[in-house]
Amino acid sequence: MKRTDEHTPRHHRVLVVDGTGRGHAVCELFTRTDPDVVVYYGPGCDVIEHDRIIPVSTLTLTNPRPTLEFLAEHPVDFVFISNIDALSRGYVEILRAFGHRVIGPTAEAAELESSKERGKRFCLDHGIPTAAYQSFTDPEAAKEYIRSLSYACVVKIDVLTPDGDGAVVCDTAGEATAAVDAFARTYGEQFKIVVEQRLTGQELSVFALLDGESALLFPTAMDFKRTLEQDAGGNCDGMGSIAPHPADDEALRQEIRTVLLEPLMRGIAADGLDFTGFVYLGTMITDAGLRVIEINARFGDSEAEVVLPGVQSSFTALCEAVLERRLHLEELTSDGLARCSVALTQGCLDPSDPQALPGWPFGAFETGQEVHGLAGIDPAEADVFYANLRRDAAGTPVTSGGRVLHVVGRGATADEARRGAYRQLAHVSFRGMRYRDDIGAEPAVVVPH
Ligand code: AMP
Ligand code: GLY
Repeated sequence: MKRTDEHTPRHHRVLVVDGTGRGHAVCELFTRTDPDVVVYYGPGCDVIEHDRIIPVSTLTLTNPRPTLEFLAEHPVDFVFISNIDALSRGYVEILRAFGHRVIGPTAEAAELESSKERGKRFCLDHGIPTAAYQSFTDPEAAKEYIRSLSYACVVKIDVLTPDGDGAVVCDTAGEATAAVDAFARTYGEQFKIVVEQRLTGQELSVFALLDGESALLFPTAMDFKRTLEQDAGGNCDGMGSIAPHPADDEALRQEIRTVLLEPLMRGIAADGLDFTGFVYLGTMITDAGLRVIEINARFGDSEAEVVLPGVQSSFTALCEAVLERRLHLEELTSDGLARCSVALTQGCLDPSDPQALPGWPFGAFETGQEVHGLAGIDPAEADVFYANLRRDAAGTPVTSGGRVLHVVGRGATADEARRGAYRQLAHVSFRGMRYRDDIGAEPAVVVPH
């Protein structure tokens, strides 16, 4: 593949810091909506073949030094950071200290995600509706509190966990106290345990782009977080999603703006937080109205893969508006199509062998499996976004983590989008490939597991 070389004159040059399917979707958004932009993407994914997306595999999400070195050699108009690992390590303020223009929340603002307790306190302080909660350093006190509750609860550990497994949704006090014990065994008493009221309803993923003062609402989505079909199994990072959310309409969007985004922006100002970039409010539609479950300091993954491909406004122009704090003058245009994404994950290599590793997200998994059929996906019906997919020494795409790639069908209706995703993912194969076969099949509701 011939890539645009860096000496070609171009109007825009940006660096996206991420390495997930979401990062690929952000890069695709930049290049599709701005014919002039060249996107450096680090650590990125070296399997992406696009003449204006240039992977920079030397970057990492845990140490900003290689990013600074890269920028010294390759000046860009701005840097867009969409990964919580980098955000919570202060990449935004560190890069800014070296004179770079950067979009993303500072580490202090990203704490709204990286500390569940901070996120909950922020909601309560600023009138953002959320579930009742208490936090504990002492596991025994947490268990005593759980036994005193008249309602079911969710037990969370107050630290970023690798696979989205930091929350245990419980039916009974026994399950909840067992979850406290399990967290205490895994994490010791170093991190707080948050116990919150379990909400029931349909989950809704809300996204907005922030310039620090105002918020531009993006289309909504529904995430399928449970590992197994029919929403069974534990929570994981997500097995797929659909957009728009089935409950999406103008009334819902208005409620999101007034009940969630307006107090959010007031809270950001009141707490003096420096928050630019995407916010993602994990929300429950309850009988009593919208309730925020979690605040995240970046776009959802795999929701980015179903929301961003529909955006038609120039994303470079929106980012410039963010940097100049004039986002309130911008509008978002979307294609109005429905999308359905299905995550293809690295499962167990041999389910009939009791000695085989269980596969993601059940436990350890074996990567390095050759991925076939990527070229068979018909772009007229589906997009594909690469997550944990890398080239091996011979240049062959192989699996390199739990969620390997996301196949995203599109159509005039949710059903058409869903059928497109499943038809197209059938082209792809690798040893141990596992996916949920019911993404978007019916509205997901919180069911006892
Ligand atoms: P969190 O770790 O806070 O991101 O929560 C992960 C997932 O757990 C959420 O997306 C929900 O599916 C579920 N969850 C978290 N908090 C609650 C709650 N209060 N009520 C019901 N489900 C919840
Ligand atoms: N889709 C869940 C997440 O991004 O955390």
